[in-house]
Amino acid sequence: MLSSVVLAATVTATVALPVLVSSIIRRRRIIERISLIPHDKERVVIIGASSGIGLELARIYAHRHAHLVIVARREELLEQLVQELGTIAGSIHAVQGDITAPEDVRRITIESLGALRGGIDTLIICAGVISVLPFEELAGINCTTANRTLSSDNAEYTHLIPANPQAALEASIKIMNVNYHAPLNLTSHFLPALIQTSSAGNIIVVSSMAGKIGAPTRSIYCASKHAAQGFFDALGMEVERTGVHVGIVSPGTVDTDLRQSAVDLPKSEAYDLSSSSSAQANTSRSELKRIAGTKKGAMTAHACAEGIVRASDYRQHDAVMPWFYQMSLILNLISPPLVRWLAKKKYGYL
Ligand SMILES: NC(=O)c1ccc[n+]([C@@H]2O[C@H](COP(=O)([O-])OP(=O)(O)OC[C@H]3O[C@@H](n4cnc5c(N)ncnc54)[C@H](OP(=O)(O)O)[C@@H]3O)[C@@H](O)[C@H]2O)c1
Repeated sequence: MLSSVVLAATVTATVALPVLVSSIIRRRRIIERISLIPHDKERVVIIGASSGIGLELARIYAHRHAHLVIVARREELLEQLVQELGTIAGSIHAVQGDITAPEDVRRITIESLGALRGGIDTLIICAGVISVLPFEELAGINCTTANRTLSSDNAEYTHLIPANPQAALEASIKIMNVNYHAPLNLTSHFLPALIQTSSAGNIIVVSSMAGKIGAPTRSIYCASKHAAQGFFDALGMEVERTGVHVGIVSPGTVDTDLRQSAVDLPKSEAYDLSSSSSAQANTSRSELKRIAGTKKGAMTAHACAEGIVRASDYRQHDAVMPWFYQMSLILNLISPPLVRWLAKKKYGYL
């Protein structure tokens, strides 16, 4: 009896103590940041604010009366947001630009700092694109094993070359440019201003659960998000001594139009879907749904944005959302085969 009480107390203490300590540390962090940077004084640059999660981030910061710069390629959507939030935000300014173009990144930085009167407290890198095809389909690799021969007499071996390796390489370069190289380049441009002009600068990067655990049909997307995870993890440690905090946020599935930006689908099947309501577009839309997997149980973009703002306020290093996705990380340490099974099940690979 006594031993089971001792066991229960030990287990409770083992679980409760770290939770208690981390919640005390978090509370101290938010109080510290708010006292240094009140909400209505916070100068925030949101990269990728024309739709989805970034747009909701802009709305949340505007309602806190922050000073905002919103960045994306689709200028008309940014202007609509400026109209919507103009009277609510402390100030709001749109900067149009493509973050994969180095000259745009330089201009975005200079225009943003100009609009914010020379200083920045929070850089949120939310822009991103996805991939939705199985790798073998993208590269044109024949995976049927019906005609398997264990040796080949064909001296050219050309029948063993995939139909479209170039497509796979190009899609990979595109996705790495947006999800990894552009965040890196934005960071090097904004970091000096974050160090020099903020009392508690934050860089918040919107990654994905795909940056933690692989999933079928997402191979090149997972690669780009894993690269970002590694870079920003290490960077966070390097720049901590400057007072700048680096936080990575990894959401699960969120209900947005991200799949329409897929780098491995023809443009007509991707972006054009948003504006068209034709029968043909509807067919493509259902086809896209088939390719891309289900959004069942997805978070809303607003709930995700609230989590990202919280992660910035609390200066969390690595936030996963919704919270129960933490379980899959723990499970991945205990039983990787089970997590692989769950991922395959989610994407119809069982
Ligand atoms: N939706 C999900 O299920 C989910 C889950 C986990 C993580 N995430 C991550 O969340 C982030 C936001 O995605 P979302 O779901 O909100 O999708 P979204 O609505 O498609 O938003 C993507 C944003 O990125 C911007 N963007 C893309 N390429 C750009 C470029 N070259 N230059 C400038 N801006 C660019 C887009 O603006 P323009 O097209 O106007 O340039 C748009 O504002 C992404 O990093 C994504 O990986 C999403």
